[in-house]
Amino acid sequence: MLIYIDLFYKFAKFPEKKGSLMCGIIGFTGKTDAAPLLLDGLEKLEYRGYDSAGVAILEEESIDVIKSKGKIQDLRNKMAKSHTPTGYIGIGHTRWATHGEPSDENAHPHYSKSRRFAVVHNGIIENFAELKEELIGKGYVFHSETDTEVVAHLLDDCYTGEFFPTVLKAIDRLVGSFSLGILCKDVPDKLVCVKKASPLIIAVSDKGNFIASDITAVLAHTRDIYKMKDDELAILGPDSVQFFDRTGAEIHKDIEKVTWDVDAAEKGGYDHFMIKEIKEQPEAIRKTISPRIDDNNNIVLDGISLTPEQIRGFNRIFITACGSAYHVGVVAKYVIEQMARIPVEVDVASEFRYRYPLVDDKSLVILISQSGETADTLEALRESKKRGARTISIVNVVGSSIASESDDVLYTWAGPEISVATTKAYSTQLTLVYLLAIQFALAAGTITDSAANELVAEIRTLPEKIEKIFEQEEMIARIAERYTYLDHAYFIGRNIDYAVALEASLKLKEISYIHSEAYAAGELKHGTISLIEPGTSVIALCCCERLVEKTISNAKEVMARGAQVLCVATEDNKSCASICDHTIYVPKTHPLLMASLEVVPLQLLGYYTAKSRKCDIDKPRNLAKSVTVE
Ligand code: AGP
Repeated sequence: MLIYIDLFYKFAKFPEKKGSLMCGIIGFTGKTDAAPLLLDGLEKLEYRGYDSAGVAILEEESIDVIKSKGKIQDLRNKMAKSHTPTGYIGIGHTRWATHGEPSDENAHPHYSKSRRFAVVHNGIIENFAELKEELIGKGYVFHSETDTEVVAHLLDDCYTGEFFPTVLKAIDRLVGSFSLGILCKDVPDKLVCVKKASPLIIAVSDKGNFIASDITAVLAHTRDIYKMKDDELAILGPDSVQFFDRTGAEIHKDIEKVTWDVDAAEKGGYDHFMIKEIKEQPEAIRKTISPRIDDNNNIVLDGISLTPEQIRGFNRIFITACGSAYHVGVVAKYVIEQMARIPVEVDVASEFRYRYPLVDDKSLVILISQSGETADTLEALRESKKRGARTISIVNVVGSSIASESDDVLYTWAGPEISVATTKAYSTQLTLVYLLAIQFALAAGTITDSAANELVAEIRTLPEKIEKIFEQEEMIARIAERYTYLDHAYFIGRNIDYAVALEASLKLKEISYIHSEAYAAGELKHGTISLIEPGTSVIALCCCERLVEKTISNAKEVMARGAQVLCVATEDNKSCASICDHTIYVPKTHPLLMASLEVVPLQLLGYYTAKSRKCDIDKPRNLAKSVTVE
């Protein structure tokens, strides 16, 4: 049965679309040199991860691995200088670092100790630490900091004398997400692949057969693919493909014809990276929090070496960042002060640097940055360290400047964020703020262990609650169409609603070019309300339960002056519908976690407004993804 892929994606809720993009993997076995095909394919996958890359080619029972920090071009240069392995079978990888900084050693493919196996991996092995300890105890020597190298040595350790049974045995020990491409020097023309949580396809062509993280890597050669599902494996030969389940039983799969072009393929079938990344938020949050919460809902914050005594020793917390990351800091102030009762100051980094902040050795400074390279935030970090402060950074790019220069770093494992307007990085930063706040509160003794565990349990529900909000996407897109010719918009809210209003306003203005302001709802009457006139658009965030009636009063004030009001409210709040022109409902959660939910419809509103205005959504005018200048 032939399924036409674009129809399939457009009308099916395809699990791959929710996959988080950590790295790009490719493999080939056929009747022509593998190296050039692997390198060209990896270049097509660079949008998935681009801090290091490598290939492994098998020829005459020897596996030759070449890898390099940097982009694919750096790998090509290294191969041109040293040698380009020849051979008709190989695997390749372009990395988005999660465990271990970008370096030659941490780049994939990874050899097993015997050099019998080489492996490339996309995903996160959640139990890699215990496996690594076990393997070191058996005498295996590790050369990288990656979780993937554990898989390579595990293959040696599980070796049964046969390639495929060894793979079956090894993957039974793995927990987490792992799509793998594996070579074995004993079998010179076959490669084995495994699919678990991270995307993987098989492509068949007249040159030979491929594995790849997505179709962009192989579209130049073929449009005939098999979509791997979780817990499926395949054995690829130059002109054969066999599929198996996790028990090793052979299974049948239907071939599919891809009708997408490359541009659509890179966005996973979405029209823009931004909407793709909005939809990736549930998975990005799961990937960011799951390795940091144990089965009893206790928090295990890797990368933070602060003791409870040290936390109690801080007399003030400063949070500094830029743009959306700053807006996360504004949420963090409300959350940390309410939970841990520690004073928090939050500043945009460009102001923090020059206001002679009262930072000293009793200060904790938290820096938030997706790119880890924002100049103002980096200089604020250096200024803080000069003044003796302890520094923690929350960063998405492993090994970036801010991460490297902070005392402690918490990585948001959101994967590469391509769209200039941040969404999934913002949301994963929020979840790390919540975990930090709980740790601070436990150290300060302001919450009990059971209250902390309840909060953590609620944080775990955020991804599915965000997925529930996506069900309103069409309704939000219709509302956005009314904003197509808007000149001004005002976002109002109180407390955490106000902090989210800041982010919602920035999302709208930076991609649709509509002038927009965010205002503390109680502040409107002190001046700005003079701008409200018949037809003015106001978006009222009404999710802060204990203040919602006050915000609704503010909404009535502007409606009395002719404003059109869109409300965002929790699904139990029925009073908004009676006064607002439109209400978007979001699921309830703990009041201190509401930002993670109420921001989502407003990200969608910004996106669909910009789309209706035919703006360049992923690359808005005048903006850069990382502002590395003052
Ligand atoms: C957010 O949508 C903007 N693109 C921008 O405000 C961004 O958040 C800001 O430049 C900070 O970038 P960083 O998180 O990489 O430091």
